[in-house]
Amino acid sequence: MDVQGVGVVVTGGGNGIGRAIARRFAAQGARVVVNDLDVAAAEAVAEQIGGLAIGGDAAGEVGVDKLIAAAKDHLGAIDVYCANAGVAVGAGPETPEAEWQFAWDVNVMAHVRAARVLVPAWLARGGGRFVVTASAAGLLTMLGSAPYSVTKHAAVAHAEWLSATYRHRGIDVHCICPQGVRTAMLDGSGGAGDAILLPTAIEPEDVADALFDGMAEGHFLILPHPEVHTYYQHRAGDTDRWLGGMNKIQQRLE
Ligand SMILES: NC(=O)c1ccc[n+]([C@@H]2O[C@H](COP(=O)([O-])OP(=O)(O)OC[C@H]3O[C@@H](n4cnc5c(N)ncnc54)[C@H](O)[C@@H]3O)[C@@H](O)[C@H]2O)c1
Repeated sequence: MDVQGVGVVVTGGGNGIGRAIARRFAAQGARVVVNDLDVAAAEAVAEQIGGLAIGGDAAGEVGVDKLIAAAKDHLGAIDVYCANAGVAVGAGPETPEAEWQFAWDVNVMAHVRAARVLVPAWLARGGGRFVVTASAAGLLTMLGSAPYSVTKHAAVAHAEWLSATYRHRGIDVHCICPQGVRTAMLDGSGGAGDAILLPTAIEPEDVADALFDGMAEGHFLILPHPEVHTYYQHRAGDTDRWLGGMNKIQQRLE
């Protein structure tokens, strides 16, 4: 897919999957704004790829508005917005309110707030591309973390809603749903992550490759682990059986 000269913003682009996506866009000639809370990481990536670092929060309303305004000033227009920043927190229902809210803000409301600013401009000019890094946890579940599973489902639902509503008006939406990817987040995911995700973990660059393949083919769902498609079908086709299988894994983890 030709991305020569297009203006791209990648949130959480200082590390992991976001860094790989930022590098890939830049390698193919895009002009890239690298955002991250970790300002030094954003600057390091921006320097490597000849992009611009805009450090700071990409989740709260103020942070999102500031990022998009600064990125527009630099790029002229934002053609592609990669809502990639995410957090994996909490465990079960005992997870404190503040942690649920944090997951909700970063994993869901960040996307809503970005779309609120970007969509009117994209409708006015006839197009734009919104790329969401959700997770296979948003199609299936993530044993060990209810806040992650629930908010990633919401991220998928929001991306689906945008695609269903605006695709005839030139807005392309892609929703990346990987299982394990070798990043700091996976390193910190504890017992469930180690047992379930690590054995089939892929590299962040594999996710960027899958995104570019999916953009070229015009797919909404980007599944860097193709087996997720089968699991998703199982979940929809026989939910009780699928839940029984997930519970067996849970019992093994215990
Ligand atoms: N690693 C995996 O196994 C995996 C699997 C599926 C989905 N994902 C998703 O991929 C995305 C990227 O995760 P990763 O694995 O690369 O993790 P990572 O921890 O390596 O990178 C995430 C980056 O996001 C930044 N960030 C966090 N909150 C931010 C905010 N409010 N504003 C700006 N930047 C912020 C962090 O500073 C960090 O640099 C996340 O949405 C995550 O949920 C990861």
